[in-house]
Formats: sequence, C-alpha cells, structure tokens
Amino acid sequence: MNKRRICYIVTGIISILFIIFITVLILSQTVFKPKYPILQTLSSTVDGVSTHVSPPLDVQLNFTLTLQMLVKNPNVADFAYKTVENSVFYRDRLVGNLTLPSSSLPAKGSVILLCPLVLQIDKFVADLGDVIQDILQRKIVIETKANMPGIITVLGIFKVHVKTVSHCKLELSFPTMAIERQVCELDAKL
Ligand SMILES: *[C@@H]1O[C@H](CO)[C@@H](O)[C@H](O)[C@H]1NC(C)=O
Ligand SMILES: *[C@@H]1O[C@H](CO)[C@@H](O)[C@H](O)[C@H]1NC(C)=O
Repeated sequence: MNKRRICYIVTGIISILFIIFITVLILSQTVFKPKYPILQTLSSTVDGVSTHVSPPLDVQLNFTLTLQMLVKNPNVADFAYKTVENSVFYRDRLVGNLTLPSSSLPAKGSVILLCPLVLQIDKFVADLGDVIQDILQRKIVIETKANMPGIITVLGIFKVHVKTVSHCKLELSFPTMAIERQVCELDAKL
C-alpha cells in the first residue's frame, strides 16, 4: 500500500467515527433527551376516621389518608426510582410518613401507586389549641409531599439522576374528614 492509500483509509475511519459521534450526540439531545418523570397525585381518599374531642385538652384525630399516585416515564429510556417518600404535614409538623419501595419503569411506562398514610394528627402537634381552632372552624388543612429520586438510563449507558417532588395541599372538613379541595404541584430537577 502506498502512503496515499493509507491516508484515504485513515481519513475514512476518522470520518465514520465522527459521524457516529455526531449521530449519538444528536440522538441524546433529541429523541433520547432525558425528560422529567411525572409524579402526580390523582386522588386522595380518607377512611377509618375516628375522632374524639372534648376541649380543652383531649383531642384525638385518627384517620387514614390514601393517596393514589401516578408515576409516568416520558422517556425513550428506562427510569428507576429509588423510593417514593411520602410525608404529611399539619401546621408544618410531620404527622405521618410512608416510604414505598424502589421499582423501575420501561420506556414510556407508567404505574399507579397506592399510598395509605395512617395519621394521628393530635399526637405530633405542639399546640392542641390550634387543632381545636381548626375543629371549631370545621376545616383541617394538611400538606403532603412526595419525593421520588431516581435514575434515567439513556441508551443503556448514560445515567441521569432526577429528583421529582410533588406537593399537595388538602382541605378536609371536620368531622367527616371529607376532602373539600386538593391543589397539587409538580417540581422536578435533572
Ligand atoms: C387514635 O389512635 C391511637 C393509636 O392507635 C389510639 O390510642 C386512640 O385511642 C385513637 N383514638 C380514637 C379516638 O380512635
Ligand atoms: C415516620 O416513619 C418512621 C418509620 O416508619 C416512624 O418511626 C415515625 O414515627 C414516622 N413519623 C410520623 C410522624 O409518623
């Protein structure tokens, strides 16, 4: 082989590698570009309500809040979440929590998770006077926070860490604990 021929072959190989590189780069920025997974609270239900109120100091507020959550993977790539940590707050105090185990979703996959939170609101509240005030106004406001850290695996090689958080604010009416209003928002970080 003469020098010129070797030169052609080397140039050819470099061009092919370059084209493959550009193609992978473009695909990873378009079709395979990681998108936020969706974590949405579809609905919430209350059951097992058991209350006992005799002011000023004896207030018991027990119920189970079950969140129905949708996890959706919009990616053309696998998504694995480590956990779904659910916390419930009443007046900024943690009153209940539940951590769901890890799982993974295939490309474009989705799943509905049920998250039953057993709450005993009075137990964790600093000032029972606040609870009594809410009871007199027949309105209890609680907030839920679901935290879903996970990894998107693009083309089976690139791993992208994502964190999705969903907040909801629920207004319950006392004494039935029926859910009057539910406002949720989604927050995700790549
Ligand atoms: C609320 O739950 C606690 C713990 O399970 C229990 O001790 C208490 O009696 C319950 N209160 C009512 C009113 O059901
Ligand atoms: C949160 O979960 C842990 C572990 O299950 C439990 O020990 C703790 O009491 C929970 N906190 C509340 C406020 O429910």
